[in-house]
Amino acid sequence: MARKILFDTDPGIDDAMAILAALRSPELEVVGLTTVFGNADVDTCALNGLRLVELEGHDHIPVSKGAGAPLFRRELDLGTEVHGLDGMGNTNPPPPRGRLDPRPAVQFILEMVRTYPGELTLVPLGPLTNIAMALQQDPEIASLVEEVVLMGGSAFGVGNISPVAEANIFHDAHAAEIVFRADWDVTMVGLDVTTKTIVQPEDLSRLYAGKNPATDLLERIQPCYQAFHDQVYGLNGAFHLHDPSVTAYLLKPELYTAIQAPVYVETTGLCFGKTIADVHRQWGARRAARILVEADSRAVIDLLIDRLIQ
Ligand code: RIB
Ligand code: CA
Repeated sequence: MARKILFDTDPGIDDAMAILAALRSPELEVVGLTTVFGNADVDTCALNGLRLVELEGHDHIPVSKGAGAPLFRRELDLGTEVHGLDGMGNTNPPPPRGRLDPRPAVQFILEMVRTYPGELTLVPLGPLTNIAMALQQDPEIASLVEEVVLMGGSAFGVGNISPVAEANIFHDAHAAEIVFRADWDVTMVGLDVTTKTIVQPEDLSRLYAGKNPATDLLERIQPCYQAFHDQVYGLNGAFHLHDPSVTAYLLKPELYTAIQAPVYVETTGLCFGKTIADVHRQWGARRAARILVEADSRAVIDLLIDRLIQ
């Protein structure tokens, strides 16, 4: 029986690889995509969600639009300098054929959780606004969701969008605090592992030799992402594997090492969006999250490429 997952996503170049690899993996059943602001505005992310499910015949998968701004309104600093104004590397892709699901993201999330009680894994790849709003609207979902496996945070290392904060958390720190505070099974796939998993140009050559719609799309959109990683990190054509690391974890969790610790999110001041792992339980009895701290990065990269070129 395939594992049921729901992506909450801001596609987004790395979101695209994560989602396309999942759609090509029989172990996973994607019941839907809900979209959120982050890498681009939410309208753009929603259309990109439609493009991704349509690319290789998954048009049946619902895509719904969610939050266009964080819970507590702040100036929006979208990731368009990383992912392009269109969220697809400024490649100006053709419009999707289909239409968005009429249900707002939060409604769709709540309906899916209650349709599949105990069986659905929520997979946030962007800011956690939709997930937090769903929790606030129906707190019981915390006991009905199988697991939350999210890309976000940096437990023991530096940030990316700020010296201390990772982008998904930073975009809505209040939502992230609500998510980490809730009593449910959360796995944090943070910069601790995603910045150690670095896709090299020779890996991309192997990927692009797949010559299928998924690899062709990634070949078109990823140069923008490579340019950002070269400009900021001097990676010279390589890049950090953020969202696709979540798909790799879902497929083969044994490729990762984790610790258990409660996670708190700073929601004020200079360290806004920093995730703090309370490893010695000094701040009370918050439920621990599963924090990934090490990865077999070579195996992760090979797993994802194998799925995408098969
Ligand atoms: O910090 C990386 C995260 O921010 C990824 O999810 C990327 O898509 C952006 O949303
Ligand atoms: Ca993302």
